Amino acid sequence: MDKIRIIGGNMLNGTIPVSGAKNATLPLMCATLLTEETLTLENVPDLADIKTLIRLLGSLGTHVEIDGDATAKADIGRVIHFTSADINNPIAHYDLVKQMRASVLVLGPMLARLGHAKVSLPGGCAIGARPVDLHIDGLTAMGANITIEDGYIVASAPEGLKGCKFHFPKVSVGATENLMMAASLAKGETVLTNVAREPEIVDLGQCLMAMGAKIEGLGTDKLTIQGVEKLHGAHHRVVCDRIEAGTYAIAVAMTGGEVLLKGANMCLFKATAEKLKEAGVTLKQEENGLRVSRDPKVPLKPFDAMTEPFPGFATDLQAQMMTLLCIAEGAGMITETIFENRFMHVPELMRLGANITIHNSSALVRGVKQLKGAPVMATDLRASVSLVLAGLVANGETTVDRIYHLDRGYERIEEKLRACGANIERIHG
Ligand code: UD1
Repeated sequence: MDKIRIIGGNMLNGTIPVSGAKNATLPLMCATLLTEETLTLENVPDLADIKTLIRLLGSLGTHVEIDGDATAKADIGRVIHFTSADINNPIAHYDLVKQMRASVLVLGPMLARLGHAKVSLPGGCAIGARPVDLHIDGLTAMGANITIEDGYIVASAPEGLKGCKFHFPKVSVGATENLMMAASLAKGETVLTNVAREPEIVDLGQCLMAMGAKIEGLGTDKLTIQGVEKLHGAHHRVVCDRIEAGTYAIAVAMTGGEVLLKGANMCLFKATAEKLKEAGVTLKQEENGLRVSRDPKVPLKPFDAMTEPFPGFATDLQAQMMTLLCIAEGAGMITETIFENRFMHVPELMRLGANITIHNSSALVRGVKQLKGAPVMATDLRASVSLVLAGLVANGETTVDRIYHLDRGYERIEEKLRACGANIERIHG
């Protein structure tokens, strides 16, 4: 198994290109199932999760072609053509679904297009129970018959899905995406309220509209979708990864220095940017990206932050922001409200000398003068990157084990950080 070794203490200076968003690409790839024509996605990141979904779509019958010529001409990211002319196997098997929960996003599109689908339940997850009841309830409200059989969601709608009014009792990114896709091909009007407003939802909505869907209210908590009979192919560029951009902004905040995050848009992670400013970091939106700088001689100021659905502070940046607090001058509090078990990075950060006390869903972080390098272990995607950030400022050597978690969501992380002066390398295991 690969590891990452970091010798802490170097400032970051230079340019980091921000990749296309993993969390936007995954639902966009599932949208290919809604049409027999080709959907071309540009700016697709090269990540383990994308490969997993390519395998899953391939198993359903989607033809996937990475466009070498167009990719070579692209600034960053890949250009991939997806054609789901013939979905010959509407069954998403456990072996692939268990590797990545977002696989459940094939359910809505397959059901809407084919009238039936069988998708494995994703099972447990390190950061919380993560049920899929809202996906099922929403599709049931659209007229689907859904049963759970032998660990699979078995869904059918022989007469097609029907428009409906559905209020989400809880904001869910994935369930909003599944229902948006399904409603695009349902008969009549669907009104979804209390929907997620994440930029990835807006990106999916824009792609669906380019495919011929009729959607109103993108970026608000109410979506009105007029179903159409058919969707067609389209060409869509994936939005930049706000979580990757936010992660590197936090890295610069911690090490000090000045980095241009090429392609990053501060509006997509405003709540985090505000907290970074509170800590004493300078962020300046420029035409081609976001410039982040901090004078390492001035200590970071602590802050309190609570995770919330967008536009609030993102749970996917919680572990990274907590790591920053570990070296701030004073104490700050982080409260996690989205997932019930998202503090697994805490014991590992404490191995590096962090002072953190957990009270239920809140973590009180008392800043220390210096973290010290040690071997640590990644437990999930964002927790692993928080350990890399800690390693960048820790005294001496930090090795992060089990970095396959990191490879699910950060493209060439060691290369990007090394290009800005970090002493970081991948050790192939
Ligand atoms: C997406 C993101 C993930 C991010 C999360 C919250 C992708 C591929 N993943 O995950 O990185 O951390 O949003 O911003 O985009 N819930 C239910 N029932 C459901 C669905 C969700 O109770 O049917 C709960 C979840 O357990 C969680 C909360 O709702 O507590 C939010 O989850 P959700 O927004 O659905 O997260 P994902 O779409 O899985």
